[in-house]
Amino acid sequence: MSEGIAADFALLRGEPPLKYLAKANRMAAEGRDIVRFEIGQPNFDTPDNVKEAAKKALDEGFTHYVPTLGIPELIEAIRDDVEKTRGFRPDEDQVMVLPGAKPGIFFGLMTTVAMGDEVIYQNPFYFQYDSLIGYMGAKKVQISLYEKDEFRMTPQQVQDNISDKTGLILLNTPQNPTGGVLTKKDIKAIAEMAREHDTYILSDEIYSKMLYEGEKHYSPSYLDQCKERTIIVDGFSKAYSMTGWRLGYMVAPKEIIHKTDLLFADVASCTASFVQKGGVEALRNGQSFVDNIMEHFTRRRKAIVEGLNEVPGMSCIYPKGAFYVFPNIKETGMKSEELALHLLDEAGVCLLPGTAFGSQGEGYLRISYARSVEEIRKGIDRMKTAMEDIL
Ligand SMILES: Cc1ncc(COP(=O)(O)O)c(C=O)c1O
Repeated sequence: MSEGIAADFALLRGEPPLKYLAKANRMAAEGRDIVRFEIGQPNFDTPDNVKEAAKKALDEGFTHYVPTLGIPELIEAIRDDVEKTRGFRPDEDQVMVLPGAKPGIFFGLMTTVAMGDEVIYQNPFYFQYDSLIGYMGAKKVQISLYEKDEFRMTPQQVQDNISDKTGLILLNTPQNPTGGVLTKKDIKAIAEMAREHDTYILSDEIYSKMLYEGEKHYSPSYLDQCKERTIIVDGFSKAYSMTGWRLGYMVAPKEIIHKTDLLFADVASCTASFVQKGGVEALRNGQSFVDNIMEHFTRRRKAIVEGLNEVPGMSCIYPKGAFYVFPNIKETGMKSEELALHLLDEAGVCLLPGTAFGSQGEGYLRISYARSVEEIRKGIDRMKTAMEDIL
């Protein structure tokens, strides 16, 4: 009996960093107090008005299938938000609601990349990209990110790697895992290169509302308004603290939306109806929540960066967006995995080795500072003690 196509696909996938999480969970179950710096989600509750909107929808019986593309009310709210944040208003048939940003990335790749096409993306990367590009049988063209460039993928690097074999450029700004942000100049140059080489751009903008120090978000969609080659993926998980709701969207050329509509109808019929009502409320009346959590994140960012720069063997630059830092640990002489495990065992601090996000993460750790300032300080104090003991 055949094992099915998934068995072959599984071989193409790297291993996610589950062992750290599993170990931390085991230690916590045994009563050890663990500081959790590995979790990539805000530790705030979803705003009450968003919960109320979804509850109201449930009470009113809004519990059946809705259009595969998404409910018109949410599509309208997304169009308004894109107009406000990216400076153009997508047409109705350029928007699709999906259960999270991840499906946007999946369908974005599925509808544009053929087997053997080259896909340009950053290393370190968000784990899903590397897996999916592997599943798709596309060729991985990874661009190394360097601390000296503040972990930006530079236009020169893209220029050196783009060719007529390039099917798609995958951008992620602000970036997971480094917090790096592409400048307006970077975005302009990369968007123009994509046009010259007639290649798609998939732009994961899930952290676009999470920027610091007056930094602005620039989207490569400015050039074609998502009419020809640019696909924006965004969602509600991070800025509105809605990871469990599973809600996101894509804005894309209408042929891509049409293909995704057909595919998604086969996969799941639609995104949960009442969840979408919560999304409408988040986009229409959620800005004060985003402003409020960004004030918290600004304080946390300062606490984590200042703290890490006091830990022996570590140094850390300020991230420009998202809620991750990528401290340099090269001075310790230890491998990232070795140090991550050491800090878990000795300090009870769970974080991820930079290598969980690709080879270029060697010599770095990834910390999510979606924790209170008190927890951040506790984690830093413990890391200081653990590092003083070995250095
Ligand atoms: C860069 C990036 N894209 C997408 C996602 C997934 O977002 P969602 O929960 O909306 O699927 C994450 C989550 O960590 C992420 O870091």
